[in-house]
Amino acid sequence: MPTKFDSTLPANKTTRVALLGFGTVGSSVAQLLRAQKFPGVELTHIYNRNIDRKRTGDTASKLSPSILWTEKIDDILNNPNIDVVIETIGGLSPMEQWLKTALTAGKHVVTANKQLIAYKGAALVKLARQHNAALVYNAAVAGGVPVIPAVLHGLQGDTVRRIAGILNGTCNFILSGMEAGEDYHDMLETAQAAGYAEADPSADVDGYDARAKLCILARTAMQIGLDPDEIPTATIKTVRLVDFHYARELNCTVRQIAQVSVDGTHVRARVGPTLVPNTSPIAWSHGTQNLVMTTGEFGGDVVFSGHGAGGNPTAVAVVSDLLAVAHGSASVSLPVKQRPVTGEVMAPWYLRFVVQDKPGIISAISGSLARVGANIDSILQRPGYPKDALPFVVTTEPCLTSTIEAAVAAIAKMPTMLEQPLCLQMLTDEDKSA
Ligand SMILES: NC(=O)c1ccc[n+]([C@@H]2O[C@H](COP(=O)([O-])OP(=O)(O)OC[C@H]3O[C@@H](n4cnc5c(N)ncnc54)[C@H](OP(=O)(O)O)[C@@H]3O)[C@@H](O)[C@H]2O)c1
Repeated sequence: MPTKFDSTLPANKTTRVALLGFGTVGSSVAQLLRAQKFPGVELTHIYNRNIDRKRTGDTASKLSPSILWTEKIDDILNNPNIDVVIETIGGLSPMEQWLKTALTAGKHVVTANKQLIAYKGAALVKLARQHNAALVYNAAVAGGVPVIPAVLHGLQGDTVRRIAGILNGTCNFILSGMEAGEDYHDMLETAQAAGYAEADPSADVDGYDARAKLCILARTAMQIGLDPDEIPTATIKTVRLVDFHYARELNCTVRQIAQVSVDGTHVRARVGPTLVPNTSPIAWSHGTQNLVMTTGEFGGDVVFSGHGAGGNPTAVAVVSDLLAVAHGSASVSLPVKQRPVTGEVMAPWYLRFVVQDKPGIISAISGSLARVGANIDSILQRPGYPKDALPFVVTTEPCLTSTIEAAVAAIAKMPTMLEQPLCLQMLTDEDKSA
């Protein structure tokens, strides 16, 4: 049975709000609350480490002088007058413990913390329910795109069978720049300078950020609990400009795709660079945009897209959560079943090799593919590359992930291979979510 929490705050009472974290998202939340002046909602406390640096900045000077700035977390957690804690710090520890303390005290929690919700969401939701508190996290997936409330409130009547899309704005920024001919490292530096990417970009480019968001979406839209560490995840660092040239010849582009589907008893999920047909709306997402496609058993495909990151778009999601809590309409949740996951999909594959060109390479590669039962669909070799480091591409007809991986492992051992072959799933027009 669906559970609806009675998280209504008394109608005539001001909702008193504490903000944890005054960085990119936190400072935008504070500014938004000041600019919009929502009646009945008051930001009373701001917590951050080394708080003096924060309270003397430009943004802080425009906020209400009545706000208490603190670097002592107990000023928030032990304060019975605070109704809602907004968490915009991030990370698992100490956030898990702090939010548990807040929920146990009956405080409602709004968080943008995808890692925490992906790994600890089930336990936190249970704790919130026990203490009649709301735990809302719409900003944790797709930043300013309200995909979580949309699937929660707008698609509950359907059975969502598949979710696929672009959940990491940094990767989309880099890959759509490479599509236009820019170098990977230049795009990464630009993303870092613009504040889209961290100094250590691995969570984004290696897929862990998108994987966490995929788990939250699967929980919310499909009521399945997944362990993020079980989802096969591949980096975009192996994608080169030459892959965009070959992708174009196949009427495709390359995007980091996060996908999960349920078919019978199997839950299939993967995150990584993927060939996407240019006819798919997924291919039309550029820059830091996010795009999520859901496929429902009854309603078919629904697409959500917009700004997936950035202080202001994310702050809109956080503040909308806060208002839902204040109006008592925040928490609707369905029972979630923990499920094992497999990365095994039946798909066509794009294989890019870099070889020292010698006679017999193609027949050796096709022999390795034939031995595992994979059929070649096309072979592409663009002119103009040096013979001593020749990149060329083989695409296959649909076969299982394990089949293609076995072939690629054998091919990688060939002496003419100069680097590890790149193996990308190809989404197809027949893919409901492509
Ligand atoms: N940025 C986005 O576009 C975006 C989008 C969606 C979701 N999110 C999520 O929103 C959360 C915040 O992201 P952000 O981009 O705003 O990060 P951020 O700019 O690094 O802000 C984090 C803030 O928390 C403070 N902080 C960090 N650890 C702390 C600790 N242990 N104790 C006290 N204060 C601490 C930092 O202080 P210092 O200044 O001292 O480091 C900083 O002010 C994360 O969960 C992130 O995943 C972000």
